[in-house]
Amino acid sequence: SIVYLNGEYLPMEEAKISPMDRGFLFGDGIYEVIPSYNGKLVGFGPHIDRMNDGLSAIDIKFDYSHDQWRDIATQLSEKNGAGNLGIYFHVSRGADSKRNHAYPDNVPATVFAFSFEIPPEPIANRNQVKPYKVSTTQDLRWKRCNIKSTALLGNVMHYQHGHSEGNGETILYNERGEMTEGSAVNAYIVKDGKVITSPLDEQILPGITRLILLDILRKDGSIPVEERVVTMDELRTADEVWISSSSKEVAPVIEVDGQPVGDGSVGEVWEKAQSLFTANKY
Ligand code: PDD
Repeated sequence: SIVYLNGEYLPMEEAKISPMDRGFLFGDGIYEVIPSYNGKLVGFGPHIDRMNDGLSAIDIKFDYSHDQWRDIATQLSEKNGAGNLGIYFHVSRGADSKRNHAYPDNVPATVFAFSFEIPPEPIANRNQVKPYKVSTTQDLRWKRCNIKSTALLGNVMHYQHGHSEGNGETILYNERGEMTEGSAVNAYIVKDGKVITSPLDEQILPGITRLILLDILRKDGSIPVEERVVTMDELRTADEVWISSSSKEVAPVIEVDGQPVGDGSVGEVWEKAQSLFTANKY
């Protein structure tokens, strides 16, 4: 595939980054994943705003304009077949001459972007969609999960926990038994027709799929939405459970730790929400 590195487009095999890059040594960087279906980007503006928030939170002085980022996304999509793609943007603090924890002065950031295939948009049909099964475990990541850091070891270890149990995600809870999010997704329950999801704070990533979904649901008005603390007891007794991310859109979960969610089939509220999402996401 063709990738972007520091101003140039080149084949992936030719893209070279110094082993002294702080992204490699420290996970010192910020990333984004933006969905692109046949060249149409979902949530582009909010994705770039979130990346800029992350960069300023960790003091990386770097700013491409929205137009510059959009041009990179468009070119990557065109050069790589313009199908269903995740556009990955990555800005690290760059390569210093020595390994030093302190932020270096006058080292240019490393900017890397590539695209990878993502599944087609889930069909908003309860009988056709492929549902997820998830594990749960205590959230043992750091206390700034709102920053989309490239240091993902905590997320990777939590994902692997679910994977090792044969599941496709892991939903996390804090020391108070409250659901936070999944290892690479936001999480929701449905109870008595209402969609409930964890509030935005430093325990979760402010997902762009979450942002778009809640906005669409509130504008439509037929499904009530609440952002509040969700306990693990509520998760285990929910009528429906959903997860969302830029590569999965809104996806139904039918099993949590081997126990069926509701009656064990994909819910009607999910079907309605995903069809509203598909119709209104751009
Ligand atoms: N993951 N929470 C976490 C911890 C995430 O890593 C992600 C995204 C989300 C959902 O955010 P969004 O809707 O903006 O994609 C929530 C990306 C896709 C990844 O790491 O591949």
